[in-house]
Amino acid sequence: MYLHGTSKINEKGHLEIGGADAVEITATYGTPVIVYDEELIRAQCRAYKQAFQKAGVSYKVSYASKAFLCIKLAHLIQEEGLALDVVSGGELYTALQAGFPAERIHFHGNNKTKSEICMALEANIGCFVVDNFWELELLHELAEGRKQSVNILLRITPGVEASTHEYITTGQDDSKFGFSVKNGQALQAVQMVIAKPLYRLIGIHSHIGSQIFETSGFIKSIEILACFFKQVHKETGHTMDVLNLGGGFSIRYTDKDAPLPVQQYIEVIIRETRKRFVDYKYKLPAIWVEPGRSIVGEAGTTLYAIGAIKEIPGVRKYVSVDGGMSDNIRPALYKARHEAMLANRAYGRQKELVSIAGKCCESGDMLIWNVLLPKVQHGDLLAVSCTGAYTYAMANNYNRMQRPAVVFAYNGKVQEVIRRETYEDLIRNDIG
Ligand code: LLP
Repeated sequence: MYLHGTSKINEKGHLEIGGADAVEITATYGTPVIVYDEELIRAQCRAYKQAFQKAGVSYKVSYASKAFLCIKLAHLIQEEGLALDVVSGGELYTALQAGFPAERIHFHGNNKTKSEICMALEANIGCFVVDNFWELELLHELAEGRKQSVNILLRITPGVEASTHEYITTGQDDSKFGFSVKNGQALQAVQMVIAKPLYRLIGIHSHIGSQIFETSGFIKSIEILACFFKQVHKETGHTMDVLNLGGGFSIRYTDKDAPLPVQQYIEVIIRETRKRFVDYKYKLPAIWVEPGRSIVGEAGTTLYAIGAIKEIPGVRKYVSVDGGMSDNIRPALYKARHEAMLANRAYGRQKELVSIAGKCCESGDMLIWNVLLPKVQHGDLLAVSCTGAYTYAMANNYNRMQRPAVVFAYNGKVQEVIRRETYEDLIRNDIG
């Protein structure tokens, strides 16, 4: 398993994350537990900021909280000076409860409800990323009732297909998100926003997908969006200040993944934006990005206890852990790959090829097919790396499994940031 961030193997042959021994973490917090390397999260936040600062452009880095959010992480994101994207009342509520500055919260989503919009207006958040005509009308009506002006970014589908899993591409024309540039709806939306007295159209947003390894999709989007900025100016006289290119920057799950360093993605984005906007003689807008996965993904490691081991001679050895698709649905949903190691016996000999099964009642609940590990024994601890993004955030109670505990490790100190669900939690909303 590749060791990300501060992870290393200590003198006992145990995995250590954030200076804390994985075996000791599980002795205190049980399994499964997701351990975040806090230093790595902070380093990723800083890498984005530094890449922009180096280029001397106006920018905003907004963490896409859908990748993982809890009160502690909201505090960390605030301390690092990033903004925060939310897509639901629940994410917004968490951010507000954490005391995250409302003016740095951006509200996304293709079906914001009336009550969510009211909650966001009440909090006076920084901007709404408006997704469709219905929302354009509804938001204005609600803002009018409060005599409140609202900053708007319009979500545009540039018609660019990112090369990633089809479930996580979003920039294509046939998408539930945003206004299409090609069919004229984007321009129509701009005209509607400009005509509404309480709206301030600050810019355009686009997000083409997630876990994108190449820069070509961003380059193509920038070309289309810069052209759209120019068209808007020509048709309406309106100048916009913000070009938001969304998230999607990739991470290294396995040795087959070769993500670009953050610096490189941002350099390409800045270079292309400068080029296109100079070509169009348009003032360089502020560049906003919304990384989610690349802030928290590599920083998370899940520790499981190994239980049943089943060998089918000549076929396969199934090694079962005490979690599965309830705490990490990505392998089942996207055929996502992870690397793993024995966290208590990193140097164990006699390597063997095994497959890691979850404990949920479904054949598809396999966390890793074919991984080489030291000869596994019951009670060993399995570490699965790169589980920081879209794992806890997508965790569920299938089979009435309890969601795991989450801890942050930093300089040898471990802090529990989400406690493990209890059986009582599972029946909390049941009505007899
Ligand atoms: N901005 C918008 C508007 C988005 O829709 C997303 C992700 C992001 C930013 C952050 O993208 P990131 O930097 O994390 O790639 N559940 C899937 C990923 C869904 C991504 C949804 N949108 C997965 O587990 O791969």
